[in-house]
Amino acid sequence: MAVVFLDQEGIIRYLNETYLEILDLPRDQVVGRHVLEITPHSRAYITLQTGKAKVGYEWIVNGHHTLGTALPIFKGDQVIGVFGYTIFLNIWDGKNILDEILANLNMYKDEVHRLYSAAYSFENIHYQSKAMNDIIILARQVANHPLTTVLITGESGTGKELFAHAIHNASRRYKRPFVRVNCAAIPDNLLESELFGYEEGAYTGAKKGGKLGKFELADNGTIFLDEIAEVPLNMQSKLLFVLQEQVVERLGGVHPAKINVRVIAATNRNLEKMVKSGSFRQDLYYRLNVVHINIPPLRDRVEDIRLITPHIINNLSRRLNISARKIDDQALQMLCKYNWPGNVRELENVLERGLIIAEMEGAGVLSGRHLNISDKQFDFNNLSEAKSLKSMLEEYENKLLLKILENCQFDVPEAARRLNVDPSSLYRKLKKYGICIKKEYSIP
Ligand SMILES: Nc1ncnc2c1ncn2[C@@H]1O[C@H](COP(=O)(O)OP(=O)(O)O)[C@@H](O)[C@H]1O
Ligand SMILES: [Mg+2]
Repeated sequence: MAVVFLDQEGIIRYLNETYLEILDLPRDQVVGRHVLEITPHSRAYITLQTGKAKVGYEWIVNGHHTLGTALPIFKGDQVIGVFGYTIFLNIWDGKNILDEILANLNMYKDEVHRLYSAAYSFENIHYQSKAMNDIIILARQVANHPLTTVLITGESGTGKELFAHAIHNASRRYKRPFVRVNCAAIPDNLLESELFGYEEGAYTGAKKGGKLGKFELADNGTIFLDEIAEVPLNMQSKLLFVLQEQVVERLGGVHPAKINVRVIAATNRNLEKMVKSGSFRQDLYYRLNVVHINIPPLRDRVEDIRLITPHIINNLSRRLNISARKIDDQALQMLCKYNWPGNVRELENVLERGLIIAEMEGAGVLSGRHLNISDKQFDFNNLSEAKSLKSMLEEYENKLLLKILENCQFDVPEAARRLNVDPSSLYRKLKKYGICIKKEYSIP
């Protein structure tokens, strides 16, 4: 700290060694001189005249940036001198460090924002079916109620996570964090500290400074508890407490912290059944099940397959950096007939594979032969419940013909040879089943 003392006239009466070092002058050239001769822009001199203290001003002296304070000394109501000192001998050192910290902080903020933000919105959900339209309306409504808990159910790959993102992004909280926790991926003994955090020294091996839990991280935003059914029973009660009270207590902590978080939970399991069998707490189920969005499996909304497919093809082509191509009717028919146990995620995988094969082949159009789904078409469980033997046989024949045709790249004469039938009778059958063979289906 540099210290200086001015008398009533502004003459420097005292200054310490540090100040001399800053001025780079010997003591006898400073003491006894007027302050404005040494430092023409002296702030202390103004204090001498006004009698007003000035605390913490930025002061540059002899190239050193300092933080100065000038305090008037009174005798009665008369200023008889000024005591000046500077803290932070070189605040730019401090400022550089501060700048660096701030830059780092901003970088981390961006990173955290990127990590904890929702990537998808309702525009990314493609559908045509009435069922999807209904749940989209519900989801859009609930997005407007920023604290309402949402339970999303549906088979794996139906778009549960997509909906969670979309709800967050359509809500007033869209600029706040969206934090996903995959409850199935975190070992039981770590789940509590992941969700609620811990204080420094909460247990051996605990990080210095403690750890922020996902709930605190999601404060003012949304927490997405994916695979909620996998949360062990003892944690279910803790979770229920947090949801009811909107407070979290870190492990080893003393003060519960108030939080303001929207909870969206998702599962592909039947929670009601789990409640009945005692593996899921009923009270937590009720607490989560405020608004329930159940996404139907893809096989139950065939019209969506037609609509989603071109979007997926476009997205994939961009991602794979290949030319976008159309899909032919034949391939689309195959997609519509398949039962999609893996739902949209499986559709994406099948299309990705198909596009890569088509690209390698140099085929301009995505055709049935590029799609590796035909085997599963022979699943007898997948035959619709037909009334007569005749119609069941026809359904089977239809699928069989598609399969054989696909195996020989839709070369009809070749298929006829394999089936040991006349090509003309095969053509008749294809016509009967509405299986149309266009140019692009035949071998390139
Ligand atoms: N209606 C839809 N429109 C477009 N893409 C969808 C749709 N539903 C699901 N997807 C896509 O399918 C994949 C699986 O969705 P996801 O939300 O992860 O399913 P879940 O969480 O139910 O397993 C994601 O890549 C998602 O973008
Ligand atoms: Mg998922």
